[in-house]
Amino acid sequence: MSFGRVKPLDAILATAEKKSLHRSLGAFQLTMLGIGAVIGTGIFVLTATAAQKAGPGMMLSFVVAGLVCAFAALCYSELASMVPVAGSAYTYSYAVMGELMAWLVGWALILEYALGASAVAVGWSGHIVGLLDSLGMHLPHALTVGPKIEWGILKGGEIGGFINLPAVLITALMTWLLVIGTKESATVNAVLVAIKVAALSLFVIITVPMIFGHTSNFQPFTPRGWGNPFDGTGTGVLGAAASIFFAYVGFDAVSTAAEETKNPQRNVPIGLIASLLICTLFYLLVAAGVIGSFGAQPLLDPATGKFFAGGAPELYGSAACQAAHAPMVCSKEALAYIAREVSSPIFGQLIGLAATLALPSVVLLMMFGQTRIFFVMARDGLLPGGLAAVHPKFKTPWVVTIVTGVVVAICAAFLPVGTLADYSNSGTLFAFAVVSLGVMILRLTDKSRPRPFRTPLLWVIAPLSIMGCITLFISLDRASQGVFLVWSAIGLVFYFLYGYRKSNVGRGIIDVVDDPNLEPELARPLEP
Ligand code: ALA
Repeated sequence: MSFGRVKPLDAILATAEKKSLHRSLGAFQLTMLGIGAVIGTGIFVLTATAAQKAGPGMMLSFVVAGLVCAFAALCYSELASMVPVAGSAYTYSYAVMGELMAWLVGWALILEYALGASAVAVGWSGHIVGLLDSLGMHLPHALTVGPKIEWGILKGGEIGGFINLPAVLITALMTWLLVIGTKESATVNAVLVAIKVAALSLFVIITVPMIFGHTSNFQPFTPRGWGNPFDGTGTGVLGAAASIFFAYVGFDAVSTAAEETKNPQRNVPIGLIASLLICTLFYLLVAAGVIGSFGAQPLLDPATGKFFAGGAPELYGSAACQAAHAPMVCSKEALAYIAREVSSPIFGQLIGLAATLALPSVVLLMMFGQTRIFFVMARDGLLPGGLAAVHPKFKTPWVVTIVTGVVVAICAAFLPVGTLADYSNSGTLFAFAVVSLGVMILRLTDKSRPRPFRTPLLWVIAPLSIMGCITLFISLDRASQGVFLVWSAIGLVFYFLYGYRKSNVGRGIIDVVDDPNLEPELARPLEP
């Protein structure tokens, strides 16, 4: 089943062979890589949004989102081990379903990576502002949040906000690091993973014992029900799962390191599943601690008698959120805030500091992923070739990096974290569903090709992954679905006006390797 031109798998693999990398990563390093890319704004910030959408039932949301990711991860692994090259879902789709589908996936990945990076940058901003506040340094509100926006499907921001300056500054810093060719070393990654795990462990140790005195905090468990995926509100357990899905995104970093992995058949799935399991366990303990120690009931709007939308300007402006000791759903640094409230301020400070130190690396990884996807798409002729220009001194794709930085900064400047994460999820869910479909197609059309890793029970796992992605997609609020559809429509117009005519595959040029120096970077987000 292919829609139009296909980039032959053999050509993709020949490109990969030219830059074959030393196989040095084992299961442990892969697991660290996964945890490093996964733990971020999702758990440190969006826990508050999930609580507003589902109340204590957000614990179920973490399980649902984790399961969908686990199914998708198993499918990713098979393709990653067969086609261990850069561009991830985009490249796989090119080989299996053709250029048009690949284009749509690549275009959707812009939502995943660029808006994902913006979301994490805004999450970082919430922490640095909270940390400075707690030290008595108050930044002007107008410079720490975007303006209230109500433009059709674009909604969010805050009354009295103008621009999220800290988010713009951290994006600029990460862009500069990427232009000069900074890559996070395995050591830096290990240190940051240790910091994040220590912060979450501290939170769990402080809060989980408090559950026993506050079991009533778990009642009502699902104040907003499971949610109706068709009502477009994105609420209830499923709505929260669709949002908190963001907390798991990033594990595909493990798949893209497949060609640097010793015994990928064993180690890639171990790395993927172990990092997902460890994160899920932490997330569940953290969620239980949040509920047990402080409570996580959603806030009602006294004016309408209905629940506020998660992260809505009206929620932050409400009297309850303005009051001292406000509910956690009002916080932009949920875990640090709760630690401050339920134990000593120093613990809150430590958790806030850990997030402030660790989140920039998640921004860096997501922007790195975005630049490499842009680069591969430009190299394939689907985006203007000028974008793929390589810096003579730094040997990095500096033009796409700066374009990415500008896009990420603009989105981070004006949109709130929950909105950005939901928009990002819409693109990710599409890409995951297409990859899961691609694995099944390739099993039928290319049976004999060696598969270093085979997805177990593929005919059960892949359909579950696709159904899970569709369920979460329709559980997003209507605005996020609308953004995805409008974005895809713009992508289609662009493809038929530009990529369709300029594509290298369409013009009979199959394999273009512009710069052998750059190639090894393409496939690996982290250096061993
Ligand atoms: N999973 C990553 C985060 O939560 C993207 O920040």
